[in-house]
Amino acid sequence: MRTLEFDANGPALVLVDQTRLPRETVYVTCRSAEDVAHAIRSMQVRGAPAIGVAAAYGLALAALAQSTENSATFMAALQKAAEDLRQTRPTAVNLQWALDRVLQRARTTLGVKGVKAAKQGVLALADEMADEDVAVNRRIGAHGLSLVSPSANILTHCNAGALATVDYGTALGVVRAAHEAGRDIHVFVDETRPFLQGARLTAWELQRLGVPMTLITDSMAGYFMSRGKVDLVVVGADRIAANGDVANKIGTYSVAVLARENGVPFYVAAPISTIDLALASGAEIPIEERASREVTEVLGTPIAPEGVQAAHPAFDVTPARLVTAIVTERGVLRPPYSESLAAAVRAYETVVA
Ligand code: MRU
Repeated sequence: MRTLEFDANGPALVLVDQTRLPRETVYVTCRSAEDVAHAIRSMQVRGAPAIGVAAAYGLALAALAQSTENSATFMAALQKAAEDLRQTRPTAVNLQWALDRVLQRARTTLGVKGVKAAKQGVLALADEMADEDVAVNRRIGAHGLSLVSPSANILTHCNAGALATVDYGTALGVVRAAHEAGRDIHVFVDETRPFLQGARLTAWELQRLGVPMTLITDSMAGYFMSRGKVDLVVVGADRIAANGDVANKIGTYSVAVLARENGVPFYVAAPISTIDLALASGAEIPIEERASREVTEVLGTPIAPEGVQAAHPAFDVTPARLVTAIVTERGVLRPPYSESLAAAVRAYETVVA
């Protein structure tokens, strides 16, 4: 199944619980916007595009739960649910983008056709966004194929695969496209401390796909790069500022610095919805701070002396100068990013409008 699916009979949003993988495949059933907010905050669903679509369905659940016929009361309830969902995770702009898009659809439908139609409109848009995400990822994969040589060794960090999206993935979409095209690729998977998205999720996905891989600890990336074992790096993104600075999982910046030092191209694969032209540079991107416990414990087992406080910024910012290219559904964007990103977003807005 997809990472998330809507059950119209519930109504409910059903998610693969990513905190339990790879040990067990279990599903979480979210029956309300509050349930969806909890699933996002606790990272049962994670990854920028996946949390965007999950939040859109969260608003659909909030809309369907309304018994009022009054447009203003309906819209106020939806806005309240959107604000609660917006607070769950601050870094990935896809979450804000998805909520604003759904609120806009609700407003326009409500004005013309009333509450009943607005409910259907909101759910229909969430469905559209889910399908669109898969199509976008396949296009990212197709564009990224041009960057992957026939027997490339690819290093990736965190999980930007099917689990981080509705399906197929962004960075892993590029890997998948190369594998499906018959290229003899191999992937170095950073384990991605502290949440272990690489070891738990990326390794799980690649194993199921039959893509040859080697799991490494984050601290091994430089070793393999310095020995000429890595041909390219490809990672996802949570937000890309107007100048091309990229926020992604903590540790991505270190990988980019190592890649530059070793002459390895560093690619970012992300949909246009991850680009935030409202922010001039990465310095303005809000960085989520997560619990100390997620660092002092590994899978619930303490690994540090009791009472030790750990820092836990969940993302870092890779400066645009270290990014070789950004692969989007509209093609491979190159520096200067202030121009190429703006042009890609303008073209996207023309299509959506
Ligand atoms: O904290 P997470 O697991 O949600 O972080 C995910 C990432 O950093 C991904 O690389 C990013 O969201 C892109 S997913 C296609």
